[in-house]
Amino acid sequence: MNSDETAIGRRYLKETRYRRDELGARGPVYPAAPRFKEYADAPQRLVLDPAPSPAGADLWACLGERRSLRQYRDRPLSLEELTALVWATQGVTLASHPYLLRTAPSAGALYPVETYLAVHRVSGVDAGIWHLNIIDFALELLTPGDCRRPLVEACLSQQFMGTGAVAFIWTGILNRAMVKYRERAIRYLFLDAGHICQNLMLAATALGLGCCPVGAFFDGEVEQLVQVDGQEEVALYLAAVGTLG
Ligand SMILES: Cc1cc2nc3c(=O)[nH]c(=O)nc-3n(C[C@H](O)[C@H](O)[C@H](O)COP(=O)(O)O)c2cc1C
Repeated sequence: MNSDETAIGRRYLKETRYRRDELGARGPVYPAAPRFKEYADAPQRLVLDPAPSPAGADLWACLGERRSLRQYRDRPLSLEELTALVWATQGVTLASHPYLLRTAPSAGALYPVETYLAVHRVSGVDAGIWHLNIIDFALELLTPGDCRRPLVEACLSQQFMGTGAVAFIWTGILNRAMVKYRERAIRYLFLDAGHICQNLMLAATALGLGCCPVGAFFDGEVEQLVQVDGQEEVALYLAAVGTLG
């Protein structure tokens, strides 16, 4: 059997297991990170409808039809489609002080996952890298311009990341979750991202769009694209969305 218990993956899982006799024991203290990220100096902001009402869809049919789709047409996404997708991933559905509860669950309601968009073809939205400001439900422009090439390269040359209309890029702010869950928080970062991405896939299915998650990427290159340090905030997951048929 090839299972080196000292290798990092197995050791991480082992050392972050909850054990009855250790629960509540003191561990390292992590500083808190701000609960929300905003780019106050962004050269452009685009406030999205915080309560969009796309046409209804049958959840059971969407679950049955959801597929990872990688071939897209040239038709741009409409702003309404983009808004519905973004809302499905991180829309605020209940303000319950001090929390802004969302469409996707999050361990401890800490929401360590940040959302960035690489916009390629969306009507009324300039191409570029945008950040989602949760409080205002607004997109903040970080880097204007065509980012398809570096994005495709960052994703191990997976071409559909550039042929889609938009790519979602999710990062995790470690201390936002580690302040409460310490090292175990890393598990929760990925679980949170998984919930978010499944919401995106189901919303894309409901809208008749194609979507494909991407876990194969050069971390540093993705982090460079969204201008995060790769230490306190790290790349977690991506997904392309494009039009079909
Ligand atoms: C964590 C994760 C990472 C993935 N990474 C990639 C990827 O980098 N490239 C890709 O083409 N598909 C990727 N996929 C999609 C899977 O290949 C796909 O979900 C799988 O083949 C099952 O097909 P389905 O999603 O259509 O049911 C990923 C899926 C998950 C859940």
